[in-house]
Amino acid sequence: MALLTLVALLLGFALTSKAGTTIWSGNFNAYPTVEAFNDWSWSDEVGEYQWYIYGTANTSEYLALDPSFKNPADTSETNGLRITIDPTSIWNGDSTMERTELIPQTTANLGTGELFYHFSISHPATNLPDSTVEHQICFFESHFTELKYGVSPNATHITWMVTEVDHYDVAFTPGTWFNFAYDINFSAGTVGLWASTGSDPLVQVVEAVPASTSTNSEDWHLGVLRLSNGGTPEDWYFSGVYIESGPITTSVGTGTGSGGSTTTSSGSSTITSTGTSSTVSSTSTTSSTTTAAGPTQTEYGQCGGTGYTGPTTCATPYTCSAVSPPYYYQVSESQFPF
Ligand SMILES: *[C@@H]1O[C@H](CO)[C@@H](O)[C@H](O)[C@H]1NC(C)=O
Ligand SMILES: *[C@@H]1O[C@H](CO)[C@@H](O)[C@H](O)[C@H]1NC(C)=O
Ligand SMILES: *[C@@H]1O[C@H](CO)[C@@H](O)[C@H](O)[C@H]1NC(C)=O
Repeated sequence: MALLTLVALLLGFALTSKAGTTIWSGNFNAYPTVEAFNDWSWSDEVGEYQWYIYGTANTSEYLALDPSFKNPADTSETNGLRITIDPTSIWNGDSTMERTELIPQTTANLGTGELFYHFSISHPATNLPDSTVEHQICFFESHFTELKYGVSPNATHITWMVTEVDHYDVAFTPGTWFNFAYDINFSAGTVGLWASTGSDPLVQVVEAVPASTSTNSEDWHLGVLRLSNGGTPEDWYFSGVYIESGPITTSVGTGTGSGGSTTTSSGSSTITSTGTSSTVSSTSTTSSTTTAAGPTQTEYGQCGGTGYTGPTTCATPYTCSAVSPPYYYQVSESQFPF
């Protein structure tokens, strides 16, 4: 009897234990309805996510919450999030892209030491992604790491890229849950990848690849950017979103905590569906993801490209050069035609 209890306890512990420390939780339990995402604004930065990169229609056109939108192995969340992109998904007047993206809202430093960016992704057999156009998924603005869809080597696969170079890809089968963790060592300047499907524990599929790892803690885009195809809506499902310091939690669905209550940093707050917030972050941050006039990019910084929304003006005497158009433009010394 006592032994059985012990075994049960150990099993329970093994099934629910979490290895690292969650430094930011994107658990969707914090959002009773999708309208609650609207509670966030630049003047009232509440909740777990910044919500401003989407099209001209209402939030409910682009976001939906439902148990069927999460990985069933994820027991820490009631709902997953369905993200939709369609021809109305034009943000900031740029009709070359259709995008629906969430950004972490936190005062935690998401770019220090070794961190694991966890998320699970899936898509249903309806509103299928269009493999004839490039998609960027869960990307950093400098694109030092991201997933893509609709790109080489196999357009129907989810492809993991480091600085625009593919290192891993897997057939993006409808109805299958794909679990990922970007393994980013910001100190060493390397990125690796952990992956699994369904309820399987994450395994390392790519070890440390050198990259210019950096983030201002508000440029990781959870969601989808599609180069405009002028066409059909696409549905993408997300769950199990959180960032932890190591060691990595390999079991799926145990690390997300409950709606921010496991976050160790300040800046997480409870939001309500009525539009009032219970706590408000006191820091007033500006984001590089807004295309504001004024800021200039310094040498070797990014100054343009698909999905890039930062400064496009270069500090003197530099100019913006097409390194890998249309995806990446970088500041370099002026080039003269003679
Ligand atoms: C957004 O929702 C409001 C309230 O439900 C509605 O009155 C309005 O027409 C909607 N706007 C768009 C662009 O769908
Ligand atoms: C792409 O992947 C699909 C599904 O795994 C496979 O059937 C197809 O042969 C692949 N195409 C190429 C060009 O590798
Ligand atoms: C991250 O990189 C630093 C610097 O190379 C290294 O000392 C550290 O051990 C790495 N962290 C892990 C967890 O491997």
